[in-house]
Amino acid sequence: MQHCLIKSSEKRDVLLNRLAAPARSLREGGLVAFPTETVYGLGANAFDEAAVRRIFAAKRRPVDNPLIVHIARVEQLEWILPRGMRIGEIERRLIDAFWPGPLTLIMPAGHRIAPSVHPGRDSVGIRMPSQPIARALIEQAGVPVAAPSANVSGKPSPTDAQAVADDLEDEIDWLVDGGVTDVGVESTVLLVEDERAIILRPGGITQEMLSSAVDIPVVFDAHLFDLGSAPLAPGMKYRHYAPNANVHVWWGDEDGIYAAMREFLSGDDGRPLPSLRPAIIAPQDFLSRYELHLPEPCLGALSPDGYDAALARSLYQLLREFDRAQATDVLVYGVNPAHGIGTAVMNRLQKAAEGRVMMV
Ligand code: TXA
Ligand code: MG
Repeated sequence: MQHCLIKSSEKRDVLLNRLAAPARSLREGGLVAFPTETVYGLGANAFDEAAVRRIFAAKRRPVDNPLIVHIARVEQLEWILPRGMRIGEIERRLIDAFWPGPLTLIMPAGHRIAPSVHPGRDSVGIRMPSQPIARALIEQAGVPVAAPSANVSGKPSPTDAQAVADDLEDEIDWLVDGGVTDVGVESTVLLVEDERAIILRPGGITQEMLSSAVDIPVVFDAHLFDLGSAPLAPGMKYRHYAPNANVHVWWGDEDGIYAAMREFLSGDDGRPLPSLRPAIIAPQDFLSRYELHLPEPCLGALSPDGYDAALARSLYQLLREFDRAQATDVLVYGVNPAHGIGTAVMNRLQKAAEGRVMMV
């Protein structure tokens, strides 16, 4: 694996220049990991069937799970859509409002896209990332870039280059290191129908943002959520985004969250259980107020201002850190899943926690 360290604040011509070698590798069938504003992607030339297949092998990804294709400019949609296809009015508005950015649109696939990008379907997920390195890389490669998150399937998605290297060092040709990603959870995946738009995966662009841009209802895929006051049944379908530690999430009333965490951390005699090596993710002020401080490196104290966004940004990185610290359990101060970026974070947490999500 070759490594390329680069700042996204570099001027565009410097970016293009620095990215020449990884871009050539990408165009010629290589696997190149790169930063986007959401998480790191594992990129391959979306026209090249053999290259795309390498993605599935490297990630050990189920072969029926379709990939997102990344472009750098709207005109490059021509690479992907069926020839002569006109973009619908709703899609046009969404593109104007949210591209470049963390919104993936499901659209019809033309014949040039490699079959393994969208196995068994005639649609394809397309997005234009806003991360300057990602866009310069695609531009320089001159081909559409199929890229899932650059993690081994089932692990938390990578939000920095170290996480990519930990999972995929031996599998990839280039790792473009652009520092820590901004949003921290994956893009919103949206399917536009005649009368409504369906969020297949909640992400960086929220339901509220989408609703304000179009005049059709924006709904969630009915299979996405089942959050309530009772814990969800654990199930194999939730084995995504899962760290080694057991994740437990509480959300709702602050005193209730404290009481639940306290109870979890204590044995019947009120003393800490010696067999536990817990870690915790919560707002800094909550941890101080309730004196729930655990020693580093098992402490994820986040900013109380904009806690929802801070949780999104830091979640995957903290889960990986806590695994390295061999935590047995991760206790998470959750957020309202019915609001803003909270929907995306709680969706990922629900999977990481395999159902151990409680409203208190
Ligand atoms: O933020 C992101 O979207 C990141 C960065 C790297 O861009 N990529 C990412 O890719 O998360 P991946 O492969 O981990 O997730 C792609 C998601 C999957 O849930 C997949 O099932 C869905 O998009 N998807 C892709 N194409 C689809 C299609 N044609 N129909 C329905 N779902 C599709
Ligand atoms: Mg993924």
